[in-house]
Amino acid sequence: MGNLKGKDILTAEQFSQEEVWLILRTAERLGDEMKKSLDLLRGYILATLFFEPSTRTRLSFEAAMHRLGGEVISVAQAKSASSAAKGESLADTARTVEQYCDLIVIRHPQIGSAQEVAEAASIPVINAGDGAGQHPTQALLDIYTIWKECGRLEDLTVALVGDLKHGRTVHSLSALLGLFDVRLIFISPSALATPVEITQRLRARDVEIAESEDLAAAALESDVLYVTRIQRERFEDPSEYERLKGSYIVDNSLVQRFKEGTVVMHPLPRVDEIDPEVDSYPGAAYFRQVRNGLYIRMALLLLVLGKA
Ligand code: NCD
Repeated sequence: MGNLKGKDILTAEQFSQEEVWLILRTAERLGDEMKKSLDLLRGYILATLFFEPSTRTRLSFEAAMHRLGGEVISVAQAKSASSAAKGESLADTARTVEQYCDLIVIRHPQIGSAQEVAEAASIPVINAGDGAGQHPTQALLDIYTIWKECGRLEDLTVALVGDLKHGRTVHSLSALLGLFDVRLIFISPSALATPVEITQRLRARDVEIAESEDLAAAALESDVLYVTRIQRERFEDPSEYERLKGSYIVDNSLVQRFKEGTVVMHPLPRVDEIDPEVDSYPGAAYFRQVRNGLYIRMALLLLVLGKA
């Protein structure tokens, strides 16, 4: 089995299939044990530093730490409320925060920011989203959800839909799915296609991938439809966002075309990509996905702190 003790979690590309299974199995066990009081991290302190908006990622890390008996210190609006607003470098912030805690979780708009913090700090650092880069813990909860909803991680067709250029969750998830026998269909407007470095790396690993703009066709053959938001905050030109928003909408008329048992996922927040009428479809897994995020983050905290 892999060992994650003391490791940074910076990108989905860092994981072996063995490590992914270790995390998924640990999360599964924690889900089963939720009703017990788990005091495994008593005496440990987690710091969460969020320089970008978040509901689920920050709250689930903090809830995970509380569920495990640990403590949390947090700067929710780190851009304006931390010394970054006075001009402090990220490296100095990291060298400061590590004096107070055992583990840092950071979200920041710049690609590579979590790596920079990890280089400055001697304690483990978890990337909770670095701009349009990576979001490895989201990808882990996504692949956990696929495993739980579909009952397997092989012989699956997964369509990744929406803003594949800026969407860090799909950058990370495609890397994790590439470790398994899964076919990927990337569905986006051509202006928001997956960065070529990502498709090249997947092709080099012999992952079966297709790129298309046709959501309706992909809906017919997919086991999982992973829908994402057009990432408005990443556009340099607001008129380009206006042109592309609403490119894909999943509604009941699309659901009618699904083959039996297709699962619909979304990292959330949604804007208009999934019509709320779809929420009552049994395969709509996005709120179960949120719950799974708690188990995955509990597992990661335990594994990284060597307490699993
Ligand atoms: C995602 C993110 O922050 O990248 N949200 C999340 O962490 N659940 C997706 C998004 O913002 O669209």
